[in-house]
Amino acid sequence: MTEKTTSDLVLEQLKQGLALPGDLYTSPTLFAEEVSAIFGRQWLYAGHVSEIPHAGDYLTVTSGDESCIVARDADGEIHGLLNVCRHRGARLVDCGTGSTRRFVCPYHQWAYSHDGSLAGAPRMPDSFDKSRWPLKKVHTSVWQGLVFVNFSSEEEVESLPELMADAAELMNPFGVEDARIAHTEVYEVDANWKLVWENAQECYHCNANHPEFIRTFDVREMAQPTAGEAPLWYSEDRRSQSARFPLKPGAVSLTMSGRPASAKPMGEFADGREPYTAAAHLKPGFAFVFSPDYGITFVDTPVSPDRTHVKVQWLVHRDAVEGVDYAVDNLIRVWDQTNRQDWELCRSVQEGVKSHGFEPGPLSLDETSVAGFYYAYARMMSAAGL
Ligand code: FES
Ligand code: FE
Repeated sequence: MTEKTTSDLVLEQLKQGLALPGDLYTSPTLFAEEVSAIFGRQWLYAGHVSEIPHAGDYLTVTSGDESCIVARDADGEIHGLLNVCRHRGARLVDCGTGSTRRFVCPYHQWAYSHDGSLAGAPRMPDSFDKSRWPLKKVHTSVWQGLVFVNFSSEEEVESLPELMADAAELMNPFGVEDARIAHTEVYEVDANWKLVWENAQECYHCNANHPEFIRTFDVREMAQPTAGEAPLWYSEDRRSQSARFPLKPGAVSLTMSGRPASAKPMGEFADGREPYTAAAHLKPGFAFVFSPDYGITFVDTPVSPDRTHVKVQWLVHRDAVEGVDYAVDNLIRVWDQTNRQDWELCRSVQEGVKSHGFEPGPLSLDETSVAGFYYAYARMMSAAGL
């Protein structure tokens, strides 16, 4: 008899409409498998193009043992480079963003250009051929001003624009590529990365837990839309998902007052397009939500079975000026509060599922997207034979 895989087990739970067993959130073995089989093979969000506007600017993205430098060269092209020196393997740059003429290895000073080619290596024999030792490439794709990387070593990497095709139509009007980052928060969440996602998939918990969020977000309309339009689009495997976010009557932005937090509308909304709010997800780690005046990006990075980093960035129109067009406090209030409330809920679930008495319960009518996440997870795991 062959042993049951994780994906089989998840599909069985799904068939019964049940949540997942506790050890899926606590097992170090499974965690290591997920990091390599899922995060090591899927598109991961690296940052917004405005973070690396000039030649030599770079940012880094890490996932498990992998680290990538995303650098802009003198022609404006963006390169994904494995952050591992070709000599004896040192990291070239620390985490974070920066700007440099060349990537010089701190160990023995091998120097690389922005496209990864080896430009200099001291005291090598005459026979040494620099052209044979460029930094290894990491796949990159820029979609609507958002830079993604993919650590997969396979030649065949899926097309990101194809994966995001449904979200494109919904997101185009926001002109995300013309935004810039107004604020960044990195949250440490004491919960498994899947619990963070499950929480983000449903608003079954919103009325009881998110007083700021529900000032403008219409939970009932989301659950039972009256607008007559499908509120949700998703890819067949449920990795990519996008939706309009219904706001309460009179509200035009996800803010405390429902009024814009930034005076400079984004994209087509500056030309008077009817306001709406939309969200899109790309599993395993990325989501964004945009109102006409500002948006946020979420990146969910697994750290250990019971710990997750969530980086949230607030974006505004690139011409919006702090203190004139927006105030950071007001801009971030709803999502910052909502996030903190969510992380507390995730932490409490992480505690609960550790109990020997935990038995996965049935999902509600408002958690169909949680089931969708389970399905996406099962598909990503089964693609790796797990
Ligand atoms: Fe980078 Fe030696 S490890 S130059
Ligand atoms: Fe929430």
